[in-house]
Amino acid sequence: MNDPLFDLEGRVAVVTGGMGQLGSVYTAGLVERGMRVAVLDVAAGDVPEGARAYRVDVTDRVEIEAVLAEVESEWGIPHVLVNNAALDSPPDAPAEEVGPFETYPEESFDAVLDVNVKGTFLCCQVVGGAMARGGRGSVVNVSSIYGLLSPVQDLYDFRRAGGETFVKPVAYSVSKSAVLNLTRYLATYWAKTGVRVNTLTLAGVWNDQPQDFLDAYTARVPLGRMLDADEALGALVFLASDASSYVTGANVVVDGGWSAW
Ligand SMILES: NC(=O)c1ccc[n+]([C@@H]2O[C@H](COP(=O)([O-])OP(=O)(O)OC[C@H]3O[C@@H](n4cnc5c(N)ncnc54)[C@H](O)[C@@H]3O)[C@@H](O)[C@H]2O)c1
Repeated sequence: MNDPLFDLEGRVAVVTGGMGQLGSVYTAGLVERGMRVAVLDVAAGDVPEGARAYRVDVTDRVEIEAVLAEVESEWGIPHVLVNNAALDSPPDAPAEEVGPFETYPEESFDAVLDVNVKGTFLCCQVVGGAMARGGRGSVVNVSSIYGLLSPVQDLYDFRRAGGETFVKPVAYSVSKSAVLNLTRYLATYWAKTGVRVNTLTLAGVWNDQPQDFLDAYTARVPLGRMLDADEALGALVFLASDASSYVTGANVVVDGGWSAW
């Protein structure tokens, strides 16, 4: 029996970045709970039965509008929007992207802000706007502990040990902080429409990282380990479902206690 508190059966979700590590877990988890899921991603890939994949760049309003029109006509107005698509500099990013703050490339700053902030803003405008017209919905904007707090640059000492320059870049942190207040802005703006808007802030997800990094990272986490992708799903289901009916403008922090000390 579905627990009515967390019941998502028959509802419709839009998950951006749904082809990625976490987005694919969200898509599978929401489909398992009986949702129909539209996956918006610039990357192609397989989706489970019950989901549909759309090649969409979240920085392009026209593309988002076209998908929304299709989703609305076939499935109705979405109930849940998960703004999960994002850019971060990968560990093997070009040297200038992981170099000193003073010379961090302007183009990289623009690219990261474009996807992480403008992309979230546009999906809120288009998909969240439809939910507001429909009189109900839940928007979940994904942030990071690096948007809540500064990255701990010492975590990357192991990369510097061999003489390499490595600075965890600034743009991702700035973009993920912007998400926190976009959430608060919209939570109050849409409060009377029945649309709730919350942030889901995650810590580092286990992804086969080098042991040196794992040692440095987990030493700073009270729970002593990285986040398992499946553990982010629990908080998402809470925010997506009626279990969180009195929660809006909040930041649900899933960080193993990282921000507690
Ligand atoms: N993985 C972590 O350790 C971690 C930690 C904290 C927060 N997060 C957040 O969780 C979310 C997902 O992270 P992930 O690790 O699964 O990342 P990921 O890189 O595996 O997935 C991101 C997805 O977004 C897509 N994407 C990028 N630009 C896009 C665009 N313009 N339009 C549409 N899709 C686009 C990519 O193709 C990719 O499939 C992000 O918002 C990230 O900031 C991740």
